[in-house]
Amino acid sequence: MSLFKSIRSSVPLIKVITAVFLFLACNFSARSQNHPSTSRKQLFDYNWKFFLGDSAAAGTKDYNDEHWRKLDLPHDWSIEGEINSKNPTKGSGGYFPAGIGWYRKTFKAPVEWKGKNVSIYFEGVYMNSEVFINGKSLGVYPYGYSSFSYNLSPYLDFNGDNVIAVRVDNSQQLNSRWYSGSGIYRHVWMIATDPVHVANWGVAVTTPNVSSKMAAVQVKTLVRNETHSPQSIVLNTQLWGADAKNAGKNQLKLELPANDEKEVVQTIKVAGPLLWTPETPHIYVAQVQVLKDKKVLDETKTNFGIRSIKFSADSGFQLNGKIVKLNGGCVHHDNGCLGAVAFDRAEERRIELLKAAGFNAVRTSHNPPSEAFLDACDRLGLLVMDEAFDCWRVGKNMHDYSVSFDKWWKRDLEAMVLRDRNHPSVIMWSIGNEIPERGTPESVKTAKMLAAAIKKIDTVRPVTSAIVENGKPWPTLDSLMAAHDVGGYNYHLGAAPSDHKRVPSRIIVQTESYPRDAFVNWDLVTNNNYVIGDFVWTAMDYLGESGIGRWYYSGDVPGEHWENDLFPWHGAYCGDVDITGWRKPISHYRNILYNHTEKLYMAVREPAPDPLEIKETWWSVWPTWESWTWPGDVGKPLTVDVYSKYPSVRLYLNDKLIAEKPTAVAQQHKAEFTLPYSPGRLKAVGVENEKEVETTILQTSGDAAKIKLTADRKEITADGQDLCYINVEITDSAGVLQPNASNRLVFKAEGPGVVFGVANGDMKDTDPYKADTRKAWHGRALVVIKSTHNAGDIKLRVSSAGLSGATLNIRAVTE
Ligand code: GAL
Repeated sequence: MSLFKSIRSSVPLIKVITAVFLFLACNFSARSQNHPSTSRKQLFDYNWKFFLGDSAAAGTKDYNDEHWRKLDLPHDWSIEGEINSKNPTKGSGGYFPAGIGWYRKTFKAPVEWKGKNVSIYFEGVYMNSEVFINGKSLGVYPYGYSSFSYNLSPYLDFNGDNVIAVRVDNSQQLNSRWYSGSGIYRHVWMIATDPVHVANWGVAVTTPNVSSKMAAVQVKTLVRNETHSPQSIVLNTQLWGADAKNAGKNQLKLELPANDEKEVVQTIKVAGPLLWTPETPHIYVAQVQVLKDKKVLDETKTNFGIRSIKFSADSGFQLNGKIVKLNGGCVHHDNGCLGAVAFDRAEERRIELLKAAGFNAVRTSHNPPSEAFLDACDRLGLLVMDEAFDCWRVGKNMHDYSVSFDKWWKRDLEAMVLRDRNHPSVIMWSIGNEIPERGTPESVKTAKMLAAAIKKIDTVRPVTSAIVENGKPWPTLDSLMAAHDVGGYNYHLGAAPSDHKRVPSRIIVQTESYPRDAFVNWDLVTNNNYVIGDFVWTAMDYLGESGIGRWYYSGDVPGEHWENDLFPWHGAYCGDVDITGWRKPISHYRNILYNHTEKLYMAVREPAPDPLEIKETWWSVWPTWESWTWPGDVGKPLTVDVYSKYPSVRLYLNDKLIAEKPTAVAQQHKAEFTLPYSPGRLKAVGVENEKEVETTILQTSGDAAKIKLTADRKEITADGQDLCYINVEITDSAGVLQPNASNRLVFKAEGPGVVFGVANGDMKDTDPYKADTRKAWHGRALVVIKSTHNAGDIKLRVSSAGLSGATLNIRAVTE
């Protein structure tokens, strides 16, 4: 008996309706924000059971999971564990635990699913997942970054319970060079369609002709008939612009033979299209309906953008006919204190941070990102280099993708291109990163094989990969470069001018660069059409690769993490933006170089504590802070860095002019001032035509006295997934940030919200990220509140011994 029938027999109708609603809301929910919701695709994230450990019987239907932990997905068990030097993920994985975990979910199959094709769709499970339905194994999926689905229809029980069980095996270490997280860390969906339906990832929208007057939109749809009889259908494709404005349509009659599929192309003209650019990220929706006798059998909605992309050595990268230089940053997939979980809001916030830092492009090193990440890039306007792999046949770690490559490369590569091809933000595919076999004839063959597989699906976007020197002369990599449409340079842009003379047809992008080389790279990008952009390693700090980007005092363990164990470092500090979202001085410098939105910035170089020296590493920059509070250094010389787009800057201390210095291109848009420290007001002023145009100030802070809270949003959705990010600053009594404060903070959420993560920017602080307390670092910390399923007022209380506490109100509202 179905759930609906059993309820109906014993309770009044209104209760039935409420119960059914609650059941659907908790087990399946159609989210609207990023994922156009249709009844065919329902979120399946809620009400799972979890067990950390292995049990051979846990895949069976009747296994007793009563004592397992209840949780909602997405979930990452690594971030919940202790950062411990003995953990098997070592410095690469940030010393987080890994291992094996199991998830189970019991559900009823709604009667509407009878006769339908029902599949379960996982956006990403790290890693080696095995999925069971009612005890039957549906398959094993090794790669932790691919999206995949299984057909459930043959195994569903419409009379009793159904059980999905997922074994996740991240026990084979090392399998990653960075923090991977462990578990079902991205969304899970149920997809129920008519047997005559649009295939999963079966819609491809391209825009072969684009002008501001008219655009041709081509919608290619793969329609499947999974019935035993031929079907006459109509494919109705409707394009919608913003505000649900009808942008054009096409209807086509189609005869589908039994158990067969057909690819159908419909071209629709859109007059006066609103073109997609990073500044104007206009989104259109392609609604594809499969109609039979005027009845809608199936319907999908696909977001797309109208824009053209073109790449050439002569004119670089052109978007809608205009040259755009890529000011890019590489990112890994983690969401800082939340670990790998890909909540929509966490992904969206990351894109907001990258945009606010002035980036116009991101490289998803070294794997495909979540769908929410790409949706946010589409919506907010960030160009994407979507990357498939960190290695091919030759591995970098014992258990990495090299183990799976031969069997899985095609499926994983296709999963990326089929899933991501409609995102207007995605402009390039990358097939790899620093492939160890580069320089061999086999690597050229493999690159051609991968590029060809992509081109079978997508002929519009170019293929690149990140190539790094291998100890042999750089031109020995020419044949590998030639297997790509765009040559990806890791840390080698200096060779671009001579490479251009040798191979004039090569289009060059720097796929990775050192943060401190911002100016030379900007210069090469700006002044050479054949160089389309630079992607710094990295745009944001990340977990794992422990100690990359660090600086240290003489006498400490030297070098990089692959040479030494650098615990308690458990993350990389090479990002322009730190793990809390705070923009380091280097971020302001890069923004000033590439953009005109920011023109003046000042920070102070940290002095070495005598007699020690500060030592930099490859990916570091000198530690520099927004601080004029150096109580131990009164009278000692301090160096002040001013970055500026003005012809010159003046520096004043307590209204006394220290000096004026030029800050034009010849000075790399920066000036250094050295002066003895005394407390007060340090003021930098941008000067143009003898006029003081803009001012920035650093004020010496008094003792830590208060807590200041700044929320990114005051209202969140009560869906158990929405997040509020709150920056915490410790200030003196006048409200000036106390940049040396490291007070321990305690967080308490009341009402329908939970403290879901806490962080500071210190990659050596091994306090747990899942906690209700954290020390401030350089006066700052971050706390993340997650909604529950209830609406209402959430009150966050933050306290710290000796400081006056602070509270913040957030509203959780129903969708
Ligand atoms: C590069 C590599 C990146 C990262 C970086 C910093 O060579 O491609 O993935 O490891 O070094 O260590």
